[in-house]
Amino acid sequence: MLSREALNDSGALWSLLNWRTLTTYQKASLNARWKIESLLVWDKCCPGTGTMKGLRPSYEMVSLFCRENFAIADRSLKDIRQNQWGSAKPNGHPAEKPEELISWLIQISLPESGVVADWFMGSGTTGAAALKAGHRFIGIEQDEKWFNYSVERLKKLNAHLKKT
Ligand SMILES: C[S@@+](CC[C@H](N)C(=O)[O-])C[C@H]1O[C@@H](n2cnc3c(N)ncnc32)[C@H](O)[C@@H]1O
Repeated sequence: MLSREALNDSGALWSLLNWRTLTTYQKASLNARWKIESLLVWDKCCPGTGTMKGLRPSYEMVSLFCRENFAIADRSLKDIRQNQWGSAKPNGHPAEKPEELISWLIQISLPESGVVADWFMGSGTTGAAALKAGHRFIGIEQDEKWFNYSVERLKKLNAHLKKT
């Protein structure tokens, strides 16, 4: 998970998690001697399905790992973000994330043209956000169906962006 060496010294890694996986992230961070610099709370503005006894979960988190020369340029940005999200997913992937959220993460951390990589590509949301912002994209996905879906989605988007 924590492939610091895959990034150049001004790069950063964003990774989504929830409260159940938080301890795993903390252990991985300690093992890699790479601290979590920020933990963004993504408020989905919509109650999800929870346990029969507990509260309805309505947030996920996004951890930020930075290389030594990386910093968020806009010092006014806070670690809570609202992005409405429900059970209807535009591309039908069960764990799909909102493109607006991913676009924002890319925008605040990669102001100039660069390379965005997502090794859990799913339906290709990160790729779509990266291409729209003028970056190059590398995607990895283990599920052949979703890999093919992403490739088609990104090919179509690329062709559209070239025309405009
Ligand atoms: C949370 S989903 C990603 C959703 C994506 N951000 C989107 O918006 O569609 C995680 C994806 O990672 C894939 N995956 C899980 N483990 C993987 C691995 N070891 N290598 C490559 N892909 C993996 C799953 O098949 C799944 O599609």
